[in-house]
Amino acid sequence: MKKETNIDKKLDQFDQRLEEMGVRIKDANNLKVREDVFDEITLLALYKLVHKKWFSVLGGSISTGKEANVFYAERDGTTLAIKIYRIQTANFTTMSSYIIGDRRFSHVKKAKKELIFAWTRKEFSNLVRARDAGIAVPEPFVWDRNILIMSFLGEGEIPYPQLRNVELEDPAETYARIISIIETLYKKADLVHADLSEFNILYSDKPYLIDMGQSVTRDHPRALPFLMRDIRNVNRFFKNRCDVRNDVEIFNAVTGLDTAEP
Ligand SMILES: Nc1ncnc2c1ncn2[C@@H]1O[C@H](COP(=O)(O)OP(=O)(O)O)[C@@H](O)[C@H]1O
Ligand SMILES: [Mg+2]
Repeated sequence: MKKETNIDKKLDQFDQRLEEMGVRIKDANNLKVREDVFDEITLLALYKLVHKKWFSVLGGSISTGKEANVFYAERDGTTLAIKIYRIQTANFTTMSSYIIGDRRFSHVKKAKKELIFAWTRKEFSNLVRARDAGIAVPEPFVWDRNILIMSFLGEGEIPYPQLRNVELEDPAETYARIISIIETLYKKADLVHADLSEFNILYSDKPYLIDMGQSVTRDHPRALPFLMRDIRNVNRFFKNRCDVRNDVEIFNAVTGLDTAEP
């Protein structure tokens, strides 16, 4: 027999309350996903976003990643992606079991939350910068605590595939576009993606950059090594698909530096 836990009750109340607020829940997500991501802080932030009418339909789970979950949603006929950074990540639960109750560390739990909120805000502002520079990214609409709402990149309720799952018609053209995205991101948006790979590029008519929480500005002490890693990842993916340029040559063209081997 399943014990009705506190969080089960909270989730039932959550559904009820959302429905009272006029939100349609399209696809009740499985309990495991919900328990992991919808803690009290997240529920409160979601209520606030509903209250401000940022979304009116909550759909199914699109992705469960290491740190975040992504859900499909809608608002006035616009399709949305809601990315929620989990406050209870596995590592932290283990860590905190040693720390909670130790009064010397009572600030740690709060610090962890603050870090996740800052991360969410950073992803939002990175998307704004990239978009302002004319790069194809999801349009960021709003963030609150650990929640980021952006436009949905997909067809119907199906997200565009990640680049790794696409059979490219013209790989050389896509390769050139992605290198030019890296360059524009660096020169115009002042950013290095820092986790660029075939996982964080969605593709339909063209490549779209996603997942910019970890992106850094050019003045970050590790910006250049991150940039080099991004370039190498892209070259690794394309080298069996088309001719690729030399890593260092791309790096120098993007940065305007003249490095022999960074
Ligand atoms: N704006 C979006 N539109 C459509 N799908 C998205 C969007 N953002 C994320 N996704 C889906 O969720 C997955 C994970 O998103 P991502 O931002 O890379 O999170 P993670 O940090 O978990 O890697 C993506 O590969 C994609 O399938
Ligand atoms: Mg990702």
